[in-house]
Amino acid sequence: MPTIDYLGHACFLVTGQEHTLLFDPYLTDNPQAAISAAEVKPDYILVSHGHFDHLGDAFAIARRTGATIITTLDLAKECEKQQLPTHAMNIGCKHNFAFGYVRTTQALHHAGLVGGEACGFIVNLDGYTLYFTGDTSLFGDLKLYGIIEHPDLLLLPIGGYYTMDIDDAVYAAKLVNAKTIIPFHYNTWPLIEADPAVFAAKVAKHTSSHCVILAPGESCDLS
Ligand code: NI
Ligand code: MN
Repeated sequence: MPTIDYLGHACFLVTGQEHTLLFDPYLTDNPQAAISAAEVKPDYILVSHGHFDHLGDAFAIARRTGATIITTLDLAKECEKQQLPTHAMNIGCKHNFAFGYVRTTQALHHAGLVGGEACGFIVNLDGYTLYFTGDTSLFGDLKLYGIIEHPDLLLLPIGGYYTMDIDDAVYAAKLVNAKTIIPFHYNTWPLIEADPAVFAAKVAKHTSSHCVILAPGESCDLS
């Protein structure tokens, strides 16, 4: 089963048997960064949208490692202009890669570039399914993604202001009904301060999911 490392803010590294996936690699200038952009060695980089705290070091890491960037159509055009290995995906659609499949999901959020869309990712790696929502506010189709994909793990933003806050994220957890939940996108800056212990207590009280809190730099084995 894969291992997940929380690298701070919205950045996760998921390591499977043969492939390593890096999500939203904002490391340089990230006050929470647990590792430098020069140290990560992903095979794929999944970028949910073009805001600086998500696109981050994606171009530099792809250029150094040859990793393929998986992202939305409009952001993929920007990657292609940089002559980087890129795989563009339509929102809601699924594609098979060497490690398993990716389905992009809707996200209620700005794209960070003109005409684009923000997304989330449901990833099946070595048979394990995780749902990284990206930056999003609460929306009803979280329930649909839960029903059709049965994610083992749900990664949810809880910091509010730009995304769901704790109470909305608890409701999202209820809709998706994953076995495990890991919160992200909180405490990077004062505007998104949130107590993950409060979130975990509410998840325990109101859902049948189990919350795992990872501090930046911490990891856990997924099973
Ligand atoms: Ni954003
Ligand atoms: Mn963000």
